Amino acid sequence: MSTPADERRSSLHGEWSSRLGFILAVAGSAVGLGNIWRFPYVAGENGGGAFVLVYLVCVFFIGLPIMMAEVLIGRRGRRNPVATMRLLGEEEAGVTYWRWVGVVGVATGFLILSFYSVIAGWTIAYIFEGGAGEFTGAGPDRINEIFSSLVSTPLLTGFWHTLFMLATVMVVVRGVEHGLERAVRVLVPALVALMLVLLGYSMVAGNFADGLRFLFEPRFDDLTGGSVLEALGQAFFTLSVGMGAVMAYGAYLPEKESIAKTTAAVVIADTCIAMLAALVIFPIVFANGMDPASGPGLVFQSLPLAFGQMPGGAVIAVLFFLLLTFAAWTSAISLMEPAVAYFMETRGWTRGRAATVVGGTIWALGFLTVLSFGPWSSLTFLRGTIFDNIDYLSNNVLLPLGGLAIVVFAGWIMAVNSTADELDPAAGRGYRLWRFSARYVAPVAVVLVLLNAVGLF
Ligand code: TRP
Repeated sequence: MSTPADERRSSLHGEWSSRLGFILAVAGSAVGLGNIWRFPYVAGENGGGAFVLVYLVCVFFIGLPIMMAEVLIGRRGRRNPVATMRLLGEEEAGVTYWRWVGVVGVATGFLILSFYSVIAGWTIAYIFEGGAGEFTGAGPDRINEIFSSLVSTPLLTGFWHTLFMLATVMVVVRGVEHGLERAVRVLVPALVALMLVLLGYSMVAGNFADGLRFLFEPRFDDLTGGSVLEALGQAFFTLSVGMGAVMAYGAYLPEKESIAKTTAAVVIADTCIAMLAALVIFPIVFANGMDPASGPGLVFQSLPLAFGQMPGGAVIAVLFFLLLTFAAWTSAISLMEPAVAYFMETRGWTRGRAATVVGGTIWALGFLTVLSFGPWSSLTFLRGTIFDNIDYLSNNVLLPLGGLAIVVFAGWIMAVNSTADELDPAAGRGYRLWRFSARYVAPVAVVLVLLNAVGLF
């Protein structure tokens, strides 16, 4: 007997060419500024050691089961996240309101991409700074000056942000399957190879011992409820979970592929790359007497020092920021995909129209971040600048809430038959472990962290 879910498998969407294609797309989404820009500076702001440990626990015990839930929901619904949540909500519980999880996810994608694109713009600017030899022989003061003068000039950062959004919209217009697989296949290995070279430099020329101690020696006294929430938010952000991006990609996953293996591979790779970035950056930070808690400029203020000192540094700088821009690009595409698929499938828009309208709105929103680092840098409320507030709201509030709703839906609302059908029809030990995590571990942990951060526990 064929079920509605079976019938949907006959290609409503295109499909990835292979399991490797899916892994590459999700890896392309996961690996990006979150690993190389955000992880080191957030770890630095939260005191290192204990934060890193909590982060790793969040990634593997909360992020991984939620990523599996997103993929299985996506593949079962085979639509954009809004339509999928609505459809599965009807199928599993006879209600339509689960679509709100998709709607909030789409909105979260807008918010995240609005600042993500601006930071990617800084990265593009640094390709040119590096190529022009600006870093050669520069000391910490000069490097600081390069960074501050860039980010405080809205005309410049606005320009690079515009260019990055244009490039992102162009790819999304052509449809996600094309080219993405091939790009990621070259890009992620190249980025890792280059970072291993930089790691060699940090071990020799940096203060590697202090870097290691900062990252891996847990000092639990430094850990606050706020930093536990930061660790959770960073785990969601780096894995791209909690807003439907992975769900949208899961909709294109061929039915026979193992969700557990593919997601585990991505999570491990993503974590290694974040660790690698931190291991490169902190030894440079400590060798040059910089402040590990200096915030969003950390990567842009530390690595150029190293590029300026190493032989062939200008070429390496260009390559590094180029690869980082590409990595950000493949992530940005995944941030737009849920919204674009939604407007196409639900409103009947063409891909071109959907991508242009979504991209244009996000582009406009991005100027809030552009100005936050420039003329509006002293306009602060709640969490800090407008950027700080958008970042906090999306990563530390909306992603955890979205992830919570997704995992509760998969663990409590969906029938065992449905989830086992996607994960492991035999419902073996691995499946039972996932289900336990999805029903108890992940939801309870997210709720406790959120309550703790608002001071209720
Ligand atoms: N994970 C990406 C990074 O680390 C950013 C990203 C892409 C993302 N898609 C997402 C974050 C969806 C949250 C949700 O750079």
